[in-house]
Parts: sequence; C-alpha cells; structure tokens
Amino acid sequence: MLKFSHFRILGFGSVFSKLFNSDADLLRYASDLATIEGVYLELGVCTGKSINFIAALNPDKIIYGFDSFQGNPEAWHRDHTVVTKGTFGLKDPNKIPLVLNNVRLI
Ligand SMILES: C[S@@+](CC[C@H](N)C(=O)[O-])C[C@H]1O[C@@H](n2cnc3c(N)ncnc32)[C@H](O)[C@@H]1O
Repeated sequence: MLKFSHFRILGFGSVFSKLFNSDADLLRYASDLATIEGVYLELGVCTGKSINFIAALNPDKIIYGFDSFQGNPEAWHRDHTVVTKGTFGLKDPNKIPLVLNNVRLI
C-alpha cells in the first residue's frame, strides 16, 4: 500500500515560489531534491506548462497529470479574495494541452 510519505511534493505553490525568482527555479530546485524512487504526479495540469517542465527535468520518469480542465470546481475563498468557480479552466476542456512523451494525462 502506498503511504503519503512515499510521495515528494514538487509543487509548493505561491508561498514558496516567492523565495525563487521564477516558477522554473522553484520546480528545478524541488526536482533536484526528489531523489527517492516513487511516482511523479501533478494535481492540476491546466496549460501543461509546469508538467512539461517537470517532465523535461526528469526524462527517465513518467509524470502523471490529473485535471478536469474545467477550472476550480467551486469558489475558493483566500484571504480577502475569491477565486471564482471555473477559474483556470480551459476555453475548450476537450482540447487538452500538448505534453511531452513521458507525461500521462489521467
Ligand atoms: C492553477 S491551475 C494549474 C496550473 C498548472 N500547474 C500550470 O503550471 O499551468 C489549477 C488546475 O487544477 C484543476 N483542478 C482544480 N480542482 C480540480 C478538481 N477537483 N478536479 C480536477 N481538476 C481540478 C483546474 O482545472 C486547473 O486546470
């Protein structure tokens, strides 16, 4: 059985990204830290930008991406702002992004 501790979380979100100059720097740093064997997942693929970057950094790994491509399923209340339902959705959720060969979209 897989336990949560078997996973390394590569996407740290906006809090940690402030410590880096770019998303690419953050992803490269996190990817370099992931030295254990395991499954690489991205929860929230959207345009495919970050999953393709992770895949390029790890060409010998299969990166599994999960997304409805319909955006936030519900409004997200964060501090004093609301990220409305559907934000981050693709214009056409049936046109999924192009991804590198070592990416599998679920
Ligand atoms: C901020 S975007 C991800 C950005 C992406 N990592 C990139 O670099 O371009 C969040 C994504 O998560 C997806 N998402 C959010 N909640 C979801 C859910 N409950 N089920 C499936 N997909 C979800 C949205 O459709 C959206 O594409």
